[in-house]
Amino acid sequence: MELVVRNASELVTCDGPAGGRAEDTLGRIHRGAVGVQGGRVTFLGPEAQLPPSAIGASTRVIDAHGGFVGPGLVDCHTHVVFAGDRSDEFELRCQGKSYLEIAAAGGGIAKTVAATRSASVDELVRLARPRLERLLRQGVTTVEIKTGYGLDVESELRMLDAIAVLAREGPQSVVATFLGLHAVPKDLAERRGEWVETCLELVDTLAKDRRCDFVDAFVEQSAFTHNEARQLAGRARTAGVPLRLHVDQLTPNGGAQLAAELGAVTADHLEQIAPEGIAALARAGTIAVLAPTSTLFARARPFAPGRALRDAGVSVALCTNCNPGSSNSENVSLAMGLACLENGLTPAEAFLGFTRVGALALRRPDLGRLTLGGPADLVVFAAESYRALPYHLGMNEAVHVVKAGRLVV
Ligand code: NIG
Repeated sequence: MELVVRNASELVTCDGPAGGRAEDTLGRIHRGAVGVQGGRVTFLGPEAQLPPSAIGASTRVIDAHGGFVGPGLVDCHTHVVFAGDRSDEFELRCQGKSYLEIAAAGGGIAKTVAATRSASVDELVRLARPRLERLLRQGVTTVEIKTGYGLDVESELRMLDAIAVLAREGPQSVVATFLGLHAVPKDLAERRGEWVETCLELVDTLAKDRRCDFVDAFVEQSAFTHNEARQLAGRARTAGVPLRLHVDQLTPNGGAQLAAELGAVTADHLEQIAPEGIAALARAGTIAVLAPTSTLFARARPFAPGRALRDAGVSVALCTNCNPGSSNSENVSLAMGLACLENGLTPAEAFLGFTRVGALALRRPDLGRLTLGGPADLVVFAAESYRALPYHLGMNEAVHVVKAGRLVV
């Protein structure tokens, strides 16, 4: 084999049975080893069963030194392509100003839009690269990236071009989401319908040219209405592009019920979700994507009710939501730790949120798990147990990262 990982405390395959206890879904293999050939997993099982022929003269052997091995992590909701800085807003929030007050005073998304509009594709790529690199070093081998800081046709396309360059460069798999309905462009404040119409037309073009994997909208008092999201969903359905929605983040507005009604793959944020919203997501099979670092960073209490969502049978994915306004952080461990401490998830649920469920949120069921014959995206961690990721709060335990069979960290 080209690559073998041995001497692990355990493999956490995330390939156990779904629907029951998260601890079972982890699919742990005590003292497991992984063999890789041609970018695929060709051996997965107890090291004692690794055939002696697996390791030859040209095999690269990674010694896990008693750490655990898991699938490449998946960050299923980010805005890492942007220009500019909003540290001034951070300071205002520390003084007690809310995210919405700052946005109303001319900051917020609009500020990043101004900076992003004046950046070239090269500049956007140059700025995004270190953000992806920080994710990669923690073991994130798949990243979703949204547009939404262009808010005119040309700038939204430039963002998509930057995302495409990053995808081509690798090593991470990149999933592109068109988020034209992120905020109403300032210059169209009195003619918002025009921007919605423009985005609907863009959905057709982007779908035809296969330039995005998802479409998304920010459903919020300060952003877009249920009806506007419905129009987007209708057009996306016709164009064959799956839908995601930012809902119930800052103010409660029945967004989760809307996401369920529209058949969205995911409902993201959910700090303000109502009990009926939880029930609706459970019925529809919509995945909840929680972004606890943004709840912390935007000082937007309460944290989303992760425990209630799980208890109702909703699948919960996690993300860093890395962006300059509400979550200037690529820290996976911090997101997992907050998910346990503040959203009420267990460490097993948090780990699945950044692996198997995160991948399902991106409609990539082949990723976020280790399976025989599946993609060889894997991480060797220094810690013995997956629990260390939320427990060693904010610290990076990843030592080796393998993407499609290639050692990239
Ligand atoms: O996911 N909710 C809307 N969008 C981002 C925030 C973007 C910004 O403030 O720049 C989010 O939190």
